[in-house]
Amino acid sequence: KTPLTIAVDGTFSSGKGTLSKRLATHYGVAHLDTGKLYRAVARDVLAAGGSVDDAKTAAKIASSIDASTLDDPFLKSGGMGSAASKVSVHPPVRAALLAFQRDFAAKGAVLDGRDIGTVICPDADVKLFVDADQEVRAERRYKELRGYGEDVTLESVLSDLRERDHRDMNRAVAPLKPAVDAHLLDTTHLSIDAAVSSAIILIDAVL
Ligand code: C5P
Repeated sequence: KTPLTIAVDGTFSSGKGTLSKRLATHYGVAHLDTGKLYRAVARDVLAAGGSVDDAKTAAKIASSIDASTLDDPFLKSGGMGSAASKVSVHPPVRAALLAFQRDFAAKGAVLDGRDIGTVICPDADVKLFVDADQEVRAERRYKELRGYGEDVTLESVLSDLRERDHRDMNRAVAPLKPAVDAHLLDTTHLSIDAAVSSAIILIDAVL
């Protein structure tokens, strides 16, 4: 049998990252948080003195991204998330990151992001699309950023989240949307444990 590939897409702070990590452990495969790739591109563009709106520079950096720099805690900041969402609109940036993601998936993996089921792994064994109400996601993200010591307000987190949702869903290339064969998982009223259990039941039924 070919290695197991699970595609997890969803909105910002829906819980898809934690869910994906837990699913990877459960099924004994690797996990790739693809948002980190875009965050790392944004970090490296800014460190080089470039602009996130400059597609050419960003694509050049994306084509030589170093996977060993993805565990940088700085990538988790709110600022890097917004910058990532800006570099990710450029088609050449997305194209430059495609091969890395496909190679990773080919060995068997859970990948989470925005376009895994639609673009990166259209033949994934199972596709999930994770979402939750905007206010609930903002609350979760607020607590997370506070936990990192960031001095944010709930209002600023909610407005950033609305802006990110809008940008991710309305971009011309690979917009955030469920693949036609994705299973929807709404985590608004679910704890992380409950979300993991629901996902496992769903996946086992498909495999
Ligand atoms: O998931 P995360 O918040 O780390 O993603 C940061 C940004 O990177 C997202 O807002 C999105 O614009 C972009 N992204 C993407 N495609 C992916 C993963 C992330 O466009 N597969």
